[in-house]
Amino acid sequence: MASLTHQLLSITAVLCAVPLITGYSFNNCIEDPQSYGTSFKCVNRKEKNMSAIVHDLPSSAINLTIVKNTPLQHISGKSFVHLPKIQHLRIDHNLLSRIDGSAFQNLHQLKSLNLSFNNISELSPSLFEGLPNLNFLSLTNNTLKQLPKNIFSDLLSLETLILRQNFLTNFSEIAESVSLLINLRTLDLCCNSLTTLNHSNVSLPKSLTTLYICRNNLFTLGCKQSFLGRIEVLDLSYNFKLPTMAFQGVDLRQVNYLRLRSTNVNVVEFLNISNIRAGHVDFSGTGLKNDTLLIELCTMLKMKAMEISNMRLCCNGIRNLTTHTLSYCPKIKGIVDLSRNEPKGTQCLNFLNKQKYIKKFTSEHNHLTNLPSCKTKNMVYFKHLEELSYRYNRILSVNSYAFYHTPNIKMLKLNINTIAFLDRKALKGLKRLETLRLDNNLLTDLFNVTFEDQFRLQTLNLRNNRISVIFNGTFFNLNNLIILDLGGNKITYFEKSGLDGLKSLSKFYLDGNNLKRIDTSLHHVFQDTLTVLDLQSNLIHFSSENIYSPFMNLRNLSDLKLDGQRPYGLTLLPRNFFRGLHSLKSLYLTNNRISHLAPDAFDELTGLHFLTLDSCCIDGIQLQPGVFRNLKNLTILAVENIGIRNFSKEVFGNLTKLHTLQLNRNGMQSINVDALESLPELRYLDMRNIPLSCTCMNILLQNWSLYNPNVQFVYLYDFPCTPHEKHKFYNFDTKVCYIDLGEYLFLSTTVAIFLFTVTPLLYVKLYWKMKYGYYVFRSWFSEQWRRIREEEENCKYDAFISYNSSDEEWVMEQLLPNLEGNGSSFKLCLHHRDFELGRYIVDNIVSAVYSSRKTICVVSRNFLQSEWCSLEIQLASYRLFDEHRDVLLLVFLESISERQLSSYHRMRKVMLRKTYLQWPGSDCTDPTQAQDLFWSQLRTAMRTGSRLQTEEN
Ligand SMILES: *[C@@H]1O[C@H](CO)[C@@H](O)[C@H](O)[C@H]1NC(C)=O
Ligand SMILES: *[C@@H]1O[C@H](CO)[C@@H](O)[C@H](O)[C@H]1NC(C)=O
Ligand SMILES: *[C@@H]1O[C@H](CO)[C@@H](O)[C@H](O)[C@H]1NC(C)=O
Ligand SMILES: *[C@@H]1O[C@H](CO)[C@@H](O)[C@H](O)[C@H]1NC(C)=O
Ligand SMILES: *[C@@H]1O[C@H](CO)[C@@H](O)[C@H](O)[C@H]1NC(C)=O
Repeated sequence: MASLTHQLLSITAVLCAVPLITGYSFNNCIEDPQSYGTSFKCVNRKEKNMSAIVHDLPSSAINLTIVKNTPLQHISGKSFVHLPKIQHLRIDHNLLSRIDGSAFQNLHQLKSLNLSFNNISELSPSLFEGLPNLNFLSLTNNTLKQLPKNIFSDLLSLETLILRQNFLTNFSEIAESVSLLINLRTLDLCCNSLTTLNHSNVSLPKSLTTLYICRNNLFTLGCKQSFLGRIEVLDLSYNFKLPTMAFQGVDLRQVNYLRLRSTNVNVVEFLNISNIRAGHVDFSGTGLKNDTLLIELCTMLKMKAMEISNMRLCCNGIRNLTTHTLSYCPKIKGIVDLSRNEPKGTQCLNFLNKQKYIKKFTSEHNHLTNLPSCKTKNMVYFKHLEELSYRYNRILSVNSYAFYHTPNIKMLKLNINTIAFLDRKALKGLKRLETLRLDNNLLTDLFNVTFEDQFRLQTLNLRNNRISVIFNGTFFNLNNLIILDLGGNKITYFEKSGLDGLKSLSKFYLDGNNLKRIDTSLHHVFQDTLTVLDLQSNLIHFSSENIYSPFMNLRNLSDLKLDGQRPYGLTLLPRNFFRGLHSLKSLYLTNNRISHLAPDAFDELTGLHFLTLDSCCIDGIQLQPGVFRNLKNLTILAVENIGIRNFSKEVFGNLTKLHTLQLNRNGMQSINVDALESLPELRYLDMRNIPLSCTCMNILLQNWSLYNPNVQFVYLYDFPCTPHEKHKFYNFDTKVCYIDLGEYLFLSTTVAIFLFTVTPLLYVKLYWKMKYGYYVFRSWFSEQWRRIREEEENCKYDAFISYNSSDEEWVMEQLLPNLEGNGSSFKLCLHHRDFELGRYIVDNIVSAVYSSRKTICVVSRNFLQSEWCSLEIQLASYRLFDEHRDVLLLVFLESISERQLSSYHRMRKVMLRKTYLQWPGSDCTDPTQAQDLFWSQLRTAMRTGSRLQTEEN
């Protein structure tokens, strides 16, 4: 009743307030809740027209992303005029084909515009007018064949222009369109259909330093000699027909990176005729497949320079590098890259002979199968080498001392191979190693000496191997290790001191292993340093509630993942499970099957900011009131798909800092607005896929969702009415609910007006008549009352028996013989026997109660439900409480629990005042004796006087 009144009041309030405030939900976009009204994403929508997507966005928008709206074909003029603050606009991966000339009008602040992956074949000449701040423009992967004259001429801030993957054929047109862009630095024209760089007298802007023209059909350059004079990065790769002679005389002095892969250029000849600085050409894919050719190249390079920084020889089909080959080269001080060749082996880098200064050696995507031992007689040391990469090979075994010749490397990449055998001493001597990548191999065993020398190691990645046990002492010397990734292995347990030594460990990834429990005793080594612990997707489960918190001492842990335990998920979360995690900021429990979350489960997590419980629990789990009570710092809560039926204040009401709430895919049909309003900081509410019903129950929610100015209600206008999918929740017809209210208001007003008009008239005309009538009625009533009371004083009966007809058998066979016969001669009043025929039943009851000294109620469940009986109790207890006459005797025929009695307030009150008798049923140990006692107690009770002596009696 109270809540109904409240509801009515609120409705009235809503009725008055409605049109004043604007709501907070967007038809096709979602505001990033962290961005405070500046960042919007509109993804996978079904609109054809841009205006329909953006019309309801606020003018505060700065970042706007509109992607994967496949029906979106057209941007009409002035689509964004109401969004003048936009700086970053993405409209990629749609099917845009037409953009009106004034589409971007008013976007004076725009800095980046991405129109890539659409179907734009033509640009309107005025499209980019009035965008003085644009510095990034991408038109990648459209179907542009040509550009209108001066199309970019307004974009004086433009720094990056990407026109990749179109069908442009005319370079001179492009050069002209960008020639005045005084800030342009990068121009990407790869994957078009250009055939020359002919530029009819225009020149490139002085600022332009990076030019990509890969994958075109260039058969010559055809430009003025000075045309590329300021270019620093030039990509001409995959112009299959581009010949060496195209470069004759072309000034490439400034170039510091040139790609010529898959062109028809002979690099040795090219170096001969070009003024490019040696060592700035990427020789990848230039056909340098044998020693003869390489030696030729090196000799040429040496003629041009004493030392070079890099030697990139990727993709040349090199099979056999001999020790002397690179010694013809100038001194190389940076990278040597031999990736994607076909070398037979690494030969302990012997082929680098004399190139002792290189810093980085890369041999990826080759077919290396074995890294041999390099502790040999004629071994050459590479003391300057800091980084070594053998990723993407087919290495099966790494032998002892395999890196003995490169003792100073800091980074070693052996990942993505098939290493099954890593010799105990394979890494011997690598005392400066900081990063070791061994992930994605077939390792099964690590020994206590494997990482013996790596005391400087900071990152060790062993993900996706086949390690099943971590033996004692494995990481004993890794005192500086910060990140240990053991995810995706088959680890079932750690030996007792398996993690000893990891004194600095901060991030520990153990996801995707076969751990069945969390071994607390191992944690002491890094209990002060650990911040991230990932235990996703293991076999962890608990069979008892009473398990000591496994995280007790991890006082700095901030990130804990326990999602998706296999095979069925965590089912039981022990009490106190999260004990001690005072620093925890993020907790992941998704994809489990927890069946019970204790109300104090999260009590200790007072620092938590982020909690996700998506699909954490069996369907329909009851979140206990107060379960989030201590999460005062929680800002993001995800509780998707856990079968919530009732979103209540008791459960969610304590989250005073919560700003993002994800409630998708739950079962509530209605939501109490009170519960939502108890979250003062809420800004973002995602309730998609919830079967909200369009009934009066949700009338407040509808209003709240439409007119709340603070909380973004994600995609509110899409919500269907369940189950009538055709209608929408936001505008379901609430008139029905208002009609009741209207009628109610109408009636009460009518009555009030009527009374106000008629009462004074009556008062004047009928005052004396009414007063007289009142006195007549009063004297008649007291006469009646007196008569009944007198009758009672005569006490025709000793007791009136009040019982339900279903208990008649007991009354007739037990009660009657024991009280009326059997030596005792009480006179009982039974309704079927002693009630006067033809008299009103109420009168009968009144006179029966008042003409009996006692009223015995035979209480059973049926009795409690019977109306007559309750009137009888009312009367008898009236005598007890108001006349202080103790007339009521309760006899319980069956045991009725306190809870079942709770709805019979008066009965409970009586029971509190008086003792009552319980009939010993046949199920007690000695029924006959117990029943004898019962009858004697009942008789005694009937004989006691009815006037109450003291309260205690
Ligand atoms: C807006 O976009 C820019 C560029 O993508 C990005 O650097 C910035 O962080 C974004 N701002 C917000 C609030 O998302
Ligand atoms: C555009 O991208 C698609 C795939 O995303 C590709 O199939 C198509 O060839 C690309 N178009 C051009 C011109 O490169
Ligand atoms: C190296 O390749 C070039 C060009 O294919 C060829 O002329 C030359 O004979 C080759 N030299 C050797 C030693 O195989
Ligand atoms: C590699 O080159 C060396 C020296 O030129 C030669 O002895 C050896 O047979 C070559 N190996 C292969 C597989 O070509
Ligand atoms: C390493 O393990 C072997 C047995 O596998 C043991 O004999 C040796 O003492 C251990 N070394 C260290 C440093 O723990």
